[in-house]
Amino acid sequence: MNQSLKEKLRQYQQRVESAIDVYIPSAQTRPVKLHEAMRYSMEAGGKRIRPVLILAASELFPSDASPEAAAVAIECLHTYTLIHDDLPSIDDSDLRRGRASCHTQFDEATAVLAGDALLTFAFQLLTRAYRDRPELACDLVADLSEASGSERLIGGQMEDVDNEGKPIDAEMLTFIHENKTGALLTAALTMGLRFCGPSEQQIEQITEVGYHMGMTFQIVDDILDATSSAEVMGKPVGNDDAAEKSTYVALHGIEGAHAEAKQHTERAIHAAKALGGNNTFLIELIEELGSRIH
Ligand code: IPE
Ligand code: IPE
Ligand code: MG
Ligand code: MG
Ligand code: MG
Repeated sequence: MNQSLKEKLRQYQQRVESAIDVYIPSAQTRPVKLHEAMRYSMEAGGKRIRPVLILAASELFPSDASPEAAAVAIECLHTYTLIHDDLPSIDDSDLRRGRASCHTQFDEATAVLAGDALLTFAFQLLTRAYRDRPELACDLVADLSEASGSERLIGGQMEDVDNEGKPIDAEMLTFIHENKTGALLTAALTMGLRFCGPSEQQIEQITEVGYHMGMTFQIVDDILDATSSAEVMGKPVGNDDAAEKSTYVALHGIEGAHAEAKQHTERAIHAAKALGGNNTFLIELIEELGSRIH
């Protein structure tokens, strides 16, 4: 990663970390165990890609409201999906973000409830923080809820779980990737752009960026599950193969998966260029996500 990208990314991540600390209820809030679990998973680090994308997209064109609360909201929603994804009944993973996963550190009931609470808190935060900008608040809630609902993120998770051990078909694999992962990454971009009062055409253009960036992101996640280590990833590896998941690696092999990821990266960059604005950071980040190693 080049120095200037690294530094910009660090600055955005720093803004996200501070905002998380400001907005999430303290660990002393009753019930203490629940709020401890929420903070435990939220404070475990992670790349903060979705909130960073919100901040970066909000700076593509001039804007006049602060995107920090929206950034925290999407990270709450994402973290809830990880807590539930790790549960014994889904991926049964005991390591997340370099720590014991939520149900391992606490217990299963607490993990389910901490996830429920983070999901709900995301929308509470959006409506509270942007109540004096009702149209913006409404667009942010619509983007986030549509991306994370039964036809998108949860729909992707359902087909991911339901197709374990079954023969992989390319159409189904695309459905899983564009929904379980692509939908929320795309929402990060559209939510950020909402702060700039975008035209319909600009929303379509950034949705195109998100689609291809999201595909690359999950294909690379699949590659890393097959090639990296738990120390580097902060989560178990080899799980997809063991669970006979529908992944690009299983369908195309490592080289084929790399080629797919590269194509999507190129398309995402093409769309980001067409969108214009202050897109240098966004383009560099898309390139980085295509070649990331954790
Ligand atoms: C993990 O997301 C789940 C996928 C969609 C692949 P991230 O790779 O963004 O995880 P964190 O937030 O950095 O832990
Ligand atoms: C998870 O996909 C996607 C969501 C949590 C919505 P994975 O199951 O591949 O994510 P990891 O590899 O556990 O992070
Ligand atoms: Mg999963
Ligand atoms: Mg998983
Ligand atoms: Mg994975």
